[in-house]
Amino acid sequence: MTDDVTSRPAPAAPDRNVTGAAITLDAVVKRFKGQDKPAVARLDLEIEAGDVVAFVGPSGCGKTTTLKMINRLIEPTEGRIFIGGRDVTRENPNTLRQSIGYVIQSGGLFPHWSVAKNVGAIPRVLGWDKKRIAARTEYLLDLVGLDPDVFSDRLPKDMSGGQQQRIGVARALAADPPVLLMDEPFGAVDPITRVRLQDSLIAIQHELGKTIVFVTHDFEEATKLGDKVLILSEGGHVEQYASPEEILTDPATPFVEEFVGSGAKLAYLTVTRVRDVEYDEIVTARIGEASQGVINRARAAGQTWVVVVDESGRPRSWPSLSQLASKPAVSDYLDRRLPVIAQSSTLNDALDAMLAASQGAALVTDGRGAVIGSLGIGTVTQTIQTKLADVRAEEYGTSYENYVEGSDTSPTPVVAADGEPHVVVEAESQVASDDNGSGTQP
Ligand SMILES: Nc1ncnc2c1ncn2[C@@H]1O[C@H](COP(=O)(O)OP(=O)(O)OP(=O)(O)O)[C@@H](O)[C@H]1O
Ligand SMILES: [Mg+2]
Repeated sequence: MTDDVTSRPAPAAPDRNVTGAAITLDAVVKRFKGQDKPAVARLDLEIEAGDVVAFVGPSGCGKTTTLKMINRLIEPTEGRIFIGGRDVTRENPNTLRQSIGYVIQSGGLFPHWSVAKNVGAIPRVLGWDKKRIAARTEYLLDLVGLDPDVFSDRLPKDMSGGQQQRIGVARALAADPPVLLMDEPFGAVDPITRVRLQDSLIAIQHELGKTIVFVTHDFEEATKLGDKVLILSEGGHVEQYASPEEILTDPATPFVEEFVGSGAKLAYLTVTRVRDVEYDEIVTARIGEASQGVINRARAAGQTWVVVVDESGRPRSWPSLSQLASKPAVSDYLDRRLPVIAQSSTLNDALDAMLAASQGAALVTDGRGAVIGSLGIGTVTQTIQTKLADVRAEEYGTSYENYVEGSDTSPTPVVAADGEPHVVVEAESQVASDDNGSGTQP
């Protein structure tokens, strides 16, 4: 198979393309004026350069506050924040914000500005010349999958929610910031667009290697996109900060267990990626090629159908050999209902795509949309069954059998009946005088 453009490389991979900066929160506290409890009681956090970190937790636990303290839209009451080793709590907040991409929910575009003007906002503030801004805007629109010729002059109101959010991401990347902060970036879009935006974010991340911190209410989104997930409870208290796999298989506290739900091990199945299973090889054909040659090639490879691709290798249709044989040359027919998935898609996404197209297989594409294989429904169900069997064996092994034999000496886990999370409340010796929590983008 070809290069693995959409996958997230392992954190320690030496060939990893990292342009992001590390972020350190050192004993950060935020007290809002007039609030008796701190919004963030005391937070220590290390985010590695080039990592994607997802913040999750119940409403009001301090996710947005923490995110906004990183670019000082909210000033920390105490503590220090380092980006790329620099103490940014001592820097001019306006300069700082120009060096950090920030995406707010629903894109937050300026409604009376064209797409191009929105994307170029920060470069203009930084005094870039027009040519450079235009070139950058074109590159970024292309990167987020929107044709610059079609969209540059549009106003946000004439675009879909998902398109606006993509413009929001392009705008945040405009000045090539090492850090991207996103507050529920995909909150307002339908599930299918959401999956597409998630996949394009993974592809962008692989290409650019930024440090990305994002807030989400969707635990599945957090585990899909995050190299690490930060689970917070009230007061910005860290319940667990670990890889998705570790959180799902080894929740650190009863709070995390409850948060990820009793279906945690099943949820693990939905975070298995297409690239983690073996997909099948395919035979491709070009438009206009002689059908007989393609048929011979397919037969030699033991295939009963082929994938017709365009110049960039993107799939257009998948005719059977008998369909091919009905015409002398491969036709340019475009099948708009092809089930197409990315390597970064989850098996759940793959099943959705197959069901939506009423097909028993889906085509697997790389980050640029070029087809690299196919995934059959049999492979998906088999993988899930194997995993389920593993999970069940493990569960019976640790609870039922041990319980019956009386050999399990560990205490029965008890979750507090009122479901209240444990909250760390620091002594409130000092109440902050600053409260600029309502700060907005330029
Ligand atoms: N400007 C403000 N003034 C006073 N209190 C605030 C202000 N902004 C937030 N808070 C309080 O701080 C706490 C944390 O708020 P924050 O917005 O960080 O929550 P969140 O985790 O982002 O929640 P959600 O998931 O609902 O967006 C809440 O109790 C909130 O009421
Ligand atoms: Mg919030």
